[in-house]
Amino acid sequence: AEEPAHTMHMNAVPAKEVGPLAPVSALPTGKQLIPVHPLKNESTIAGVFKGTLTAAPIDVSLIDAGKTTFWSYNGQVPGPLIEVMAGDTVEILFKNHLTQATTVHWHGLPVPPDQDGNPDDLVLPGENRLYKFTLPKDSAGTYWYHPHPHGTTPEQVYRGLAGVFIVKDPTDPIRSIPERHLVVSDLKLLADGKIAPNDANDEMNGREGQFVLINGLHQPLIQMQAKTERWRIWNATSARYLNLSWGNASVTQVGTDGGLLEHPIVGLTGLLVSPAERVELLVSAENNVELAAEIYQRGKMGTVAPEKRLTLAQIEGVAEGAAVIIPQKLRSIPVPAPVKAKKKVVFSELMSMENGQHSMQFLINGKQFDMNNIDLISRLGEVEEWEIVNQADMDHPFHLHGVQFIVMSKTYKGQTQASPFVARRDIVNLRSGESAVIRVVQAFRGRRMFHCHILEHENLGMMGTLLVV
Ligand code: C2O
Ligand code: CU
Ligand code: CU
Repeated sequence: AEEPAHTMHMNAVPAKEVGPLAPVSALPTGKQLIPVHPLKNESTIAGVFKGTLTAAPIDVSLIDAGKTTFWSYNGQVPGPLIEVMAGDTVEILFKNHLTQATTVHWHGLPVPPDQDGNPDDLVLPGENRLYKFTLPKDSAGTYWYHPHPHGTTPEQVYRGLAGVFIVKDPTDPIRSIPERHLVVSDLKLLADGKIAPNDANDEMNGREGQFVLINGLHQPLIQMQAKTERWRIWNATSARYLNLSWGNASVTQVGTDGGLLEHPIVGLTGLLVSPAERVELLVSAENNVELAAEIYQRGKMGTVAPEKRLTLAQIEGVAEGAAVIIPQKLRSIPVPAPVKAKKKVVFSELMSMENGQHSMQFLINGKQFDMNNIDLISRLGEVEEWEIVNQADMDHPFHLHGVQFIVMSKTYKGQTQASPFVARRDIVNLRSGESAVIRVVQAFRGRRMFHCHILEHENLGMMGTLLVV
């Protein structure tokens, strides 16, 4: 019988064939955090951002044993920071100097589908492509960009292709607080310095390397420059759940993927940042504390051996100076109403045994992704409520392209809880057995993707196509 295209055999690439990994001690720690390089604005016209992104391999000396070849945007890992104002027109000339076809997907941004780097909208090796879009006035937030070609997204991202994108609002009430940007990525390195391919465990659970990097550095030192800083944190890993902790630093959450909350959440003691999710925090540390990722058990089988607590960075605090006064109201976020249409999305896993081999399928509404199918249809401008149900054994972070949604409630173990606050998001994590209700309104016609943002799961078929008419 023909093997389904997306079926993953658990022993397809045994870990031992991938080769030995570099020891965690191979990468230096304690280097001072460096800011993400901004992308140069080549435009002289107000309200227009023009830049060039070139995807190409780059060799870097990370460990003594040998060179590491990343695939990079403009020679940088993470890719350059694109910073624009809400309302701006953005023109990015993209050049593909890789040997694979790719696309640039503007994760979370409200861009038309034909500019959003859909899986079949390929830029072939050697080709250029102009991506052009105008961002609406209410689009301030913390976004990113990464490849989305069908079948090779995980590889292109784990080889280094991911960059960050900030949209600012001139009326932001906390704009005077100094900003710091933390792009968290994951690196799985072989002992000879090469980037490890995915093994069978990566394919099933999602890839996690032995190094978690911030702005490309292993366990860097963050020297605070002010008593309170505004941090934007990106979880740009393929599959790692960042269950953040920060010792006795005082942390207030002020934003999510799609910008500021209505009201700050003060006195946070920890925060789970799922794969692909972003948060905005106000951080004050008076002494030295550790930024860490605590153990997070991803459902019944998400993590075979629960990983140890991971140090992400050392923070050197600032004791002097006046504390900032955080406004009680950051902005208003209208909740779209009344609901005109409903949809249901069910995540499931299917384990089967065939010729003595386990295989696993990752499904949405019982099906694997097929580029030729339209799985759901929405109408332009209609308020929709989606119920997203995770019937699988592990956590899966749901993502919908091109739009920010509002999580209304979550149901877990029979208990339904309304969201304690209103926030714009494009990622919602679902634990095994959990479901969420979101509200969403589509602003562009065309084809949109929705999927689990564990990139290996997306690649194995946990993705669908929404057509907006
Ligand atoms: Cu980060 Cu389909 O997206
Ligand atoms: Cu996306
Ligand atoms: Cu998943």
